[in-house]
Amino acid sequence: MKKKINIGLFGYGCVGQGFYKVLQQSPNTNAVITKIVVKDKSKSRDLPVQQFYYQPSDILLDNNIDTVVELIDDANAAYDIVKSALKLGKNVVSANKKLIAEHLDELIELANTQQVTFLYEASVCASIPIIRNIEDYFKSDHIQGFQGICNGTTNYILSRTAQGLTYDKALSEAQELGFAESDPTLDVDGFDAKYKLAILLKHVFGVSAKPEDIFNCGIRHIKPAHVNFADNYEGKLKLYSYAKQVEDKVIGFVAPFVVPLSHPNYNVENEFNAVNINAKFAHEQLFQGRGAGSVPTASAVLSDVQAFQTGYKYDYSSTKYNDNTFTNDFYLKIVLSAHDESSLDAIKFEHTAYSEVEGKLAFKVGWVYFRNLIKVDFNSRSNMFFAVISEDFKLRLSEVEHAVGEALV
Ligand SMILES: NC(=O)c1ccc[n+]([C@@H]2O[C@H](COP(=O)([O-])OP(=O)(O)OC[C@H]3O[C@@H](n4cnc5c(N)ncnc54)[C@H](OP(=O)(O)O)[C@@H]3O)[C@@H](O)[C@H]2O)c1
Repeated sequence: MKKKINIGLFGYGCVGQGFYKVLQQSPNTNAVITKIVVKDKSKSRDLPVQQFYYQPSDILLDNNIDTVVELIDDANAAYDIVKSALKLGKNVVSANKKLIAEHLDELIELANTQQVTFLYEASVCASIPIIRNIEDYFKSDHIQGFQGICNGTTNYILSRTAQGLTYDKALSEAQELGFAESDPTLDVDGFDAKYKLAILLKHVFGVSAKPEDIFNCGIRHIKPAHVNFADNYEGKLKLYSYAKQVEDKVIGFVAPFVVPLSHPNYNVENEFNAVNINAKFAHEQLFQGRGAGSVPTASAVLSDVQAFQTGYKYDYSSTKYNDNTFTNDFYLKIVLSAHDESSLDAIKFEHTAYSEVEGKLAFKVGWVYFRNLIKVDFNSRSNMFFAVISEDFKLRLSEVEHAVGEALV
């Protein structure tokens, strides 16, 4: 018989209620929710009022509770709760990507010191078991890179703009369907995708990159002409949480990519998430599933709770065996577009393959130095847009010149 787990649940919103439901329907999980802490005393709930508490200490100081499941929507309050729970010797599950991306190293160290376990599968692509697969299945393989579609709102908008809708129409559709918040900034500007990228960078490459050191550009300023550009390349625009090892360096950023027809991510549509992994021995593997939603997200939380029963912990073996350095010093090939030709000069091109004016937009295709590119805050420049058009990244300018020369031959 597995050891019984006594859970203190923080949050009874979309995911908290989903977790309550899936736990009731999972007789092989010997776990019980002892208390639920929420914020708003005046809210009506679908459970008896005696089950709800309003102070974190109601759970944290209860010695019968050995496991905290943190499912609240406030990253700062969640940080205090998770940290206190680990300090008090409780195992913790969290789905809060922002909190985890910002404080992961500190929380890993705290869990190790306290000899407790901290799991957070739901924080990256919700129901897709990506962290556990990276940790366990790929432990002895070598992941060389991944292309993640880690945000359902932006993938939905990009699917609909590819079908001819404007950005504004696609966004309001996503809001009506409940995929997008009324303030969609975190999603459409690529912040949510960046938090997930930061967590994956740690598990795949052992890289501790703070969210503020990772570049994110979203899709807020996409126009039909950009969709047409991708179409002319036989591709579709997708917002990637992207990472790749280049020699002993790791590059990672969030940006729109032109994804070719031949790529497995090309057909990942609407609110679905996917992570395509490129491993040395296994080669390409596509993980696809629901990256949000009450019950799908709760399934990952349930899986973490079950994992406690077998004494499972993340091993962070990539941190132990890799000596990778995160870098923004590399060259990449992009398409840049602007409302007027002179705005294209905001970014220096090391090599221009071509430039043209199509309708009301000017386009330039070529190689740029990443550090020059990220000086521009694309999320606030409504007249500019860029997309990455090749996964061929170079660390040195001489390699760019060589690649350009080869292409001309
Ligand atoms: N929704 C998804 O599909 C999804 C997917 C993956 C990950 N996540 C992550 O899961 C977490 C929960 O998201 P959600 O969508 O379930 O949020 P939600 O529906 O907005 O629910 C938030 C819950 O947190 C409670 N809460 C907020 N601040 C609190 C505090 N200081 N102390 C105690 N309780 C507090 C709220 O209490 P009241 O009920 O009293 O207001 C509410 O029950 C977030 O970190 C989110 O990023 C969500």
